[in-house]
Parts: sequence; structure tokens; C-alpha cells
Amino acid sequence: MGRRYLVTGGAGFVGSHTVAALLDRGDAVVVLDDLSTGHRAAVPDGARLVVGALEDAAGVDALLSEGPWDAVLHFAALSLVGESMQAPYRYLATNLDNGVRLIAACVRHDVRRFVLSSTAALFGAGSDAPIDEEAAIDPGSPYGESKAMLERALLWAERVHGLRSASLRYFNAAGADPAGRLGEDHAPETHLIPLVIDAALGRRPELAVFGDDYPTPDGTCVRDYVHVSDLADAHLRALARLDQGSVRYNLGNGRGHSVLQVIEAVGRLCGRPVPHRIAPRRAGDPPMLVAASGRIMRETGWQPRFADLDGIVGTALAWREAHPHGYRTPPA
Ligand SMILES: NC(=O)c1ccc[n+]([C@@H]2O[C@H](COP(=O)([O-])OP(=O)(O)OC[C@H]3O[C@@H](n4cnc5c(N)ncnc54)[C@H](O)[C@@H]3O)[C@@H](O)[C@H]2O)c1
Repeated sequence: MGRRYLVTGGAGFVGSHTVAALLDRGDAVVVLDDLSTGHRAAVPDGARLVVGALEDAAGVDALLSEGPWDAVLHFAALSLVGESMQAPYRYLATNLDNGVRLIAACVRHDVRRFVLSSTAALFGAGSDAPIDEEAAIDPGSPYGESKAMLERALLWAERVHGLRSASLRYFNAAGADPAGRLGEDHAPETHLIPLVIDAALGRRPELAVFGDDYPTPDGTCVRDYVHVSDLADAHLRALARLDQGSVRYNLGNGRGHSVLQVIEAVGRLCGRPVPHRIAPRRAGDPPMLVAASGRIMRETGWQPRFADLDGIVGTALAWREAHPHGYRTPPA
């Protein structure tokens, strides 16, 4: 019998690309998603979509009882750092309650493998050096804290119940399926590359660059953009590695790009300048966050296929140009 996975949040950005990668290799996938930030049209053909919320414990239980499952991949979460600073307890309670309840339900239904979408936001203020798995966990936001707590919950699930898990700390997920099947469509959009693309295409007013006086080469913040299809591939490799035990991996390209470098790349690839202005710094933005992903490379052979910024921006741009309204139906 083929492998079979339950994917929460599989109608979202990273989840949908991972579902596509699982289907592409012949696995069966059931997606559980309440479509709060995801899209029905983002669920790849071949996956079964169950529209439901993680808060519906009985519904989750009923779905898990349709096992056996080779693993549960848990993407669904509240995931806006800024919003979590406004609503800390909502973020902590929602992400923790939903995650811990799901882990407990997995244990009850004898699921033996679990993959958690974790985040670079575990590492707080960051540092100039690439961040590896030994770096101190010091979340700078309730969002990051909720993921740190879920990672801890998974440690206990393993110690007490033997549930093996992979905590995958994504840095800045970006890009779009190179085959053009899927892309990024958040509302509101908070991620830099789609915002810059929309500014370049005249679909939003000029872009605000928050601060140009950081201690970075051009003064703007530096981030590690990792292609969403490379993240999907990392999930497949982490799943295989779970045969040997639980893992935690930092996932990035290992190279930082500043906000101005992203603006330059988008402008060049679009063939038009990106309207932008320098605005004051935003509270809580670390100057630099770059991953050291040597561990997953050594242990699974993972290598980002989209190692340079142009490749990442190019796929995102192609999808935005082909889907001006994202997954939404254009207004009549
Ligand atoms: N995108 C990034 O750069 C990034 C970086 C680090 C970590 N992450 C983590 O990766 C995961 C996926 O991120 P994304 O950018 O794809 O987000 P997304 O918002 O596109 O996807 C999340 C999906 O989960 C669904 N969902 C949310 N709450 C739910 C609930 N209570 N019940 C059922 N479904 C629910 C949404 O409808 C959506 O389809 C998140 O856990 C996020 O914290 C993302």
C-alpha cells in the first residue's frame, strides 16, 4: 500500500507546495483546512480536501480515525509576527491549543510521525552569523514563542509516547511552484517579495522600506529567502530521516539578501523600477536573519535548487503575472 499523509493547512502557501510534492511522488494526501487564510484552489488535484478547523476536536478525531497515516504534517497556524504582538494570548492559546490537541490525537490514533512547521522567529534578535540549530531559543514574539512551545510539546510526546517528529524552522519562504501550478496569496500580504512584485506591477502604492540605518551593508534588513519548493523537498527528506529518530532543522539558503537587493532584483526582472520610500524602522525587526542549514544537508542530502535570489523572484513573478488576483476570482 502507498504512503498516506494528513496535512493540516494544506490549502496555504507552504502546505500546498508540500502536498504537491507528496502527490508528485505518488503518495496519498488528505488536507484538513478551514480556508481561513488558504484557498480551495490551492489544494492540488489529487488531494482530498476536508474543510474543517483544528478547533473542532471531534472532527479532527474522526478524520484521524480514518488511518493508518504514515505521518501528520502540521502547517495550520496563526503566523503573523506583528499581529501576535497585538494579540499575544490569542496567538499563544490558538497555536498551542490546536497543536497540543493535534499531537495528543495523533498519539491516540497511533500516528508515529509528526512534522511541525516551525520558524526562524524562534531565534529572536538574531545575530550577524548564520544561525544553526545550536543557537539559543529566544523568541522575539508570541508567534515565535508558540512554535517554541510546540517544539517542546513534541519532545514530551516522544519521551512519553515515542512519537517521532521533525521541527522544520523555515526562514523566509518565497517563490512559487516552478511548473506554475501554485503560488503565494496571503491577505493581507506581509511577505516582502510579493509586496515588491505588486508595487512593481502597479498593483499597490509605493513600498515602504522600514529603516535604512541598520548595521548591514546597505542599511536595510537582511533575510534568508528560501524557495517554497525547496522547503517542500525538505519535508520529504525529513520524513524519510524520521526512520532514524526525531530531527530539528533550520531551513534557509544560507545567504542573506537585503530589502534593497530584493527591490533591485524585482525591478530588473520586471523591467521597471519599483516605487519605494524609506520609512522609520519597525519595532522588533532584527537586522539580519540567515540560516545555517548544514545539518539537514549532511543528514538528508538536501540542497536548495533555487540558491539565488533571481530564481526565487522569477518563479514568484511568473505566478503573480499569470494570476493577477491570486487564487481569487477577479471582480466582475
Ligand atoms: N511563510 C513563511 O515564510 C513561514 C516562515 C516560517 C514558518 N512558517 C510557518 O509555516 C506554516 C505555513 O505558513 P504559510 O505561509 O503557508 O501560511 P498560510 O496562511 O498560507 O497557510 C496556513 C493554512 O492553515 C489554514 N489554517 C489556519 N488556521 C487553521 C485552523 N485553525 N484550522 C484549520 N486550518 C487552519 C489556513 O486556512 C491556511 O490554508 C505556518 O505554521 C507558519 O507559521 C511560515
